[in-house]
Parts: sequence; C-alpha cells; structure tokens
Amino acid sequence: MSSAPIVLLLSGPNLNLLGEREPDVYGTATLADHVATAEAAATGHGLVVEHLQSNHEGVLIDAIHAARGRCAAIVVNPGAFTHYAWAIHDALAAFDGPVVELHLSDPKQREPWRHLSVVEPVAARTIAGHGGDGYRLALEAVAELLAP
Ligand code: DQA
Repeated sequence: MSSAPIVLLLSGPNLNLLGEREPDVYGTATLADHVATAEAAATGHGLVVEHLQSNHEGVLIDAIHAARGRCAAIVVNPGAFTHYAWAIHDALAAFDGPVVELHLSDPKQREPWRHLSVVEPVAARTIAGHGGDGYRLALEAVAELLAP
C-alpha cells in the first residue's frame, strides 16, 4: 500500500497565540482551527498534513531539512521571519518540492517593513489576505502544483 504524500505545514513565531493575538488583524480562530482546515482540504486531495509551529528559526530550518526527500510539499506561514530570515529562504531553496507561502493578513497592505518577503522568491505561490480560508487555498494550491 503506498502512503499518502506528506505536506509539511510550518507555522512561525507568535502563531501559537492565534485566537488571542491581535484578533482585529488575525481573527479569532486558533492555530488548531487552521490546521484542521488544512487537514480537511488535504484529505480531499489524498494528501496528509504534518504540522509544526515554532518560535525558533533554527527549529523551522531543521524541519525544512528533514522534509527533503520525505515530504512532497511545504506550506509555510513564517510569521515575522517572512521579512528578514534569509536562512529560511536558503533552507527552502534546498527543498526539492513546491513551497507555498501563506499569510492570514496581506503583509503588502500593512506597514512598509512587512512589504519585503524573503520567502516569496522561493515560493511557487503566495496566498495572503484570505484569513483562515488561506489554509484551504494553500492546500488547493499544493494539490495543483503536485498534479501530474
Ligand atoms: C503573518 C504576517 C506577518 O507580517 C506577521 O509578522 C505574522 C503573521 C500573517 O499570517 O499574516 O506573524 O505571517
């Protein structure tokens, strides 16, 4: 029996506080709610989600390295690492499958320091500004990118 392709869903710093953190910007759903949305969308496409949240850049980089040759795709909401963590950019560049960048808000419509994404150049798609529905859209994008 062949096992379902794994999509690594990575959540960066402060996303563990979703639901409590700046609800006017990020909504009231929790990270667990968003992971459930991603899992439901993945199941519909014969994919399985593996989720990791960390507030530490190196932990996220280690997870990206460990995904090489093991996971089919990565969906990443890097939180504020989006805007300056070039080591995450480099790790994603060394990953052998498609990368989808995901944000609840649209950083390009916010403060100027959020306009640069160091992940965008290595992402096949960027999904931003769709709130929690972005988790479904990101998995839809992965399914499309993995389609033969
Ligand atoms: C975010 C946007 C980032 O600018 C911010 O630092 C976050 C969340 C989003 O999902 O909208 O932590 O990635």
